[in-house]
Amino acid sequence: MDKTGGQLLEAALAARQNAQATFSRFKVGAALETVDGHIITGCNVENATYGLSICAERVAMLKAISEGYRCFCRLAVVADTHEPTTPCGACRQILWEFGGDLEIIVGNLQGEMARYQLKHLLPHPFDARLLS
Ligand code: THU
Repeated sequence: MDKTGGQLLEAALAARQNAQATFSRFKVGAALETVDGHIITGCNVENATYGLSICAERVAMLKAISEGYRCFCRLAVVADTHEPTTPCGACRQILWEFGGDLEIIVGNLQGEMARYQLKHLLPHPFDARLLS
């Protein structure tokens, strides 16, 4: 897999084409990379209740978990925003719990990108360590 994450962003961009964004019209694509180089993609899927809609990042992570993947290193997100968008709070929680301190690569349709570590996007997280 490429070091810069360009291929991962391309996979997120392609996944964005499948977004079901009937209500917001805001299409998002995500691509999650496993430590051994598999890529699992997701897009946002909205429905008529609005509240049951799910973000691209969580779709990618839940698809990956359901397919048996457990160890991840990076996630790319692409949306049509002025500045590349970072995952929402709910997604940060799920990504942290199942992926740990992932590198998060964000991009927009103009080709701008930025990188973050998830621990910086979700400082002082709640997770299973606190349940014992
Ligand atoms: N959305 C995502 O899929 N990922 C994000 O990072 C931000 C928001 C979706 C949820 C909803 O379908 C639409 O974008 C508008 O919020």
